[in-house]
Amino acid sequence: MTATAFTPRVFSGIQPSGGLTLGNYLGALRRFVDMQDAGTHECIFCVVDLHALTTWQAPDKLHAQTREAAAAFIAAGIDPSRSILFNQAAVPEHAQLAWLFNCVARMGWMRRMTQWKDKAGKNSEEASLGLFAYPALMAADILAYHATHVPVGEDQKQHLELTRDIAAKFNHDYGQDFFPITEPVIGGPAARVMSLRDGTKKMSKSDPSDMSRINLSDDADTIAQKFRKARTDPEPLPETYGELKDRPEARNLVDILAGLQGRTSEEVMGDVAGQGWGQFKPYLAEVAVETLGPITTEMNRLMADPAEIDRTLGAGALRAREIASPILAKTMDIMGIVRSV
Ligand code: AMP
Ligand code: TRP
Repeated sequence: MTATAFTPRVFSGIQPSGGLTLGNYLGALRRFVDMQDAGTHECIFCVVDLHALTTWQAPDKLHAQTREAAAAFIAAGIDPSRSILFNQAAVPEHAQLAWLFNCVARMGWMRRMTQWKDKAGKNSEEASLGLFAYPALMAADILAYHATHVPVGEDQKQHLELTRDIAAKFNHDYGQDFFPITEPVIGGPAARVMSLRDGTKKMSKSDPSDMSRINLSDDADTIAQKFRKARTDPEPLPETYGELKDRPEARNLVDILAGLQGRTSEEVMGDVAGQGWGQFKPYLAEVAVETLGPITTEMNRLMADPAEIDRTLGAGALRAREIASPILAKTMDIMGIVRSV
């Protein structure tokens, strides 16, 4: 087998299963914008509505959340004329390739996924089959475009390893170097932003407590209040970042500040060493409001015209299909499926 040269291409997705959080912004969106602006890769970004359906979504809310997620992409700096932006269900190749990958992936691989174990919990008999198969759909999202790089937060690392396993098994079973072995792009101080109420849990749009997260739709007062009430220990900040090792809540707030300022946590510690919470928290809130305020304003402006968002997503879907359709056709051909075009 000769190594195929793949076009440098980024793919990533965000689920519209609720409003987006500061975790989504720092762990994902902001890094998407950096990759787009670097201009080294063709960039494809997707609101993964089919993934959201793996847990119950009220239909009217899902419509709104999909548009809100698209607005967040654009407000954060994704330019739909430079990057491709669309919603997953508008490109049927994702679901079609996912079926083919369901036949490549093994039950044991899926059962080992920690997100499956966490989300299905003790009640796995009642979880949807879609929730179990979810990583195969994620692999299809990525591989339908032969994406070479996938920027995500830390929590998606295992799913990306599974994507690589599916690509490698497909290539091996069919004796072809057809799918790339995608590289995860994970890193920076905010690869895992934690809950403001519990420094051992990730900040999540599905956490029942709204105080646990900063939403991209929160106004300045709400952001300040949430940081003021964020759980911490009673000690002031130490001299060095290393000393925060066993202080998860304190470390999280320093990491958030670093993420917002685009600096390393060690650098940030230089400025805030020795501060008490009464000094640090209002400063953190101020920096957060400065960064997020303009994004929230722009999101609200975009959401006032849903038809325009739908047009943008529709135009993105057409461009996405141009790439995905021949890749799906070739996959089917390799597997022995006859497909008339
Ligand atoms: P999701 O909201 O689960 O669809 O996640 C979309 C993207 O945001 C993925 O790349 C996640 O890894 C990232 N992400 C979600 N929550 C966090 C968090 N708390 N910290 C860092 N990244 C996150
Ligand atoms: N599973 C990801 C999450 O919950 C979202 C996602 C779906 C994704 N398909 C993707 C991320 C493809 C990167 C690439 O965060």
